[in-house]
Amino acid sequence: MNRIFSGMQPTYALHLGNYLGALRNWVELQNQFESIFCVVDLHAITLPQDPKALLNNTREVAAAYIAAGIDPERNILFNQSYVAGHSELSWIFSCLTPLGWLNRMTQFKDKAGKNRDQAGLGLYAYPVLMAADILLYKATHVPVGEDQKQHLELARDIAGAFNRNYGRDVFPLPEPQIMGEATRVMSLRDGTKKMSKSDASDYSRINLTDDADAIAQKIRKAKTDPEPLPATIEELEARPEADNLVTIYAALEGTSRLDVLGRFAGAQFSGFKGELVDLAVAKLGPITAEMNRLMKDPAEIDRILRRGGERARAIAESTMAEVRDVVGLLRP
Ligand code: TYM
Repeated sequence: MNRIFSGMQPTYALHLGNYLGALRNWVELQNQFESIFCVVDLHAITLPQDPKALLNNTREVAAAYIAAGIDPERNILFNQSYVAGHSELSWIFSCLTPLGWLNRMTQFKDKAGKNRDQAGLGLYAYPVLMAADILLYKATHVPVGEDQKQHLELARDIAGAFNRNYGRDVFPLPEPQIMGEATRVMSLRDGTKKMSKSDASDYSRINLTDDADAIAQKIRKAKTDPEPLPATIEELEARPEADNLVTIYAALEGTSRLDVLGRFAGAQFSGFKGELVDLAVAKLGPITAEMNRLMKDPAEIDRILRRGGERARAIAESTMAEVRDVVGLLRP
């Protein structure tokens, strides 16, 4: 049986990278797989969060999932902390995960910075909790952007370690699904840096909460070089900012970079950016409008998340019963 699990952190408004790298693919995949989509609030608190903002962001991420086209009836949509199994399985996995595996994780190095001794244990153990998220539901496929690849390899290693250690085939090895034209959307200010929620400059990203004016301003101010658009992918790839804008255009339109170059080769960026603004506003505007509509009724979003949480918990409890038996923990 195939099952999808994926999630996003409610740390800030979602951005175009989250949408093109992951969320849009989920919308497509929900028709092919049984799917579980999570708002990972326990991951969010690995860095300091204001409690009110965290709760609001959790609702906003759920609203973004629904506004982008995730059907909360057909799929399970819930927030991570609702199901205790995530934390329980994470502990069991941490007892099997060598420190050496975690020391290789580049995200921890990036997020902890120079102050490693001050970084929290949760930030270090973050990828183990992520493995627990996926394996608690025995998910076989995990649609994510390219930046999560290393974490997914660790999840596969942990699943293998558990199965080997207890001599039982409890967990499948989950497959990453890194799909589409825009698996790594870059900052609008620097084509060598990933578009990210934590970038200090709001001009580096397009948020799903941005209105048409903000989208237009950010795209017009996006860094480019003075050359017109090239005709070949090779020439494009030598120009990170140009490549990023062409990639965003292709992904929003559902075509390829080569298609886009076929139409715009030789054009100046000023003209191309105007077209990109129109396309981005046409594609993102309806999602933002629907998110705003949903956010007017937070109680309804909470009802959807709780209903999803109950359904998730039922699957999680059956996995945890099996895990307790295998590990030798008395069942409650
Ligand atoms: P998060 O919240 O940072 O990002 C959510 C999803 O968006 C993708 N993404 C991008 N894709 C393309 N270009 C970008 N610039 C970009 N930025 C973000 C991410 O790859 C991700 O798919 N650890 C995860 C959340 C998580 C999770 C899980 C995911 C927790 N448990 C279990 C899958 C399965 C994270 O921080 O994603």
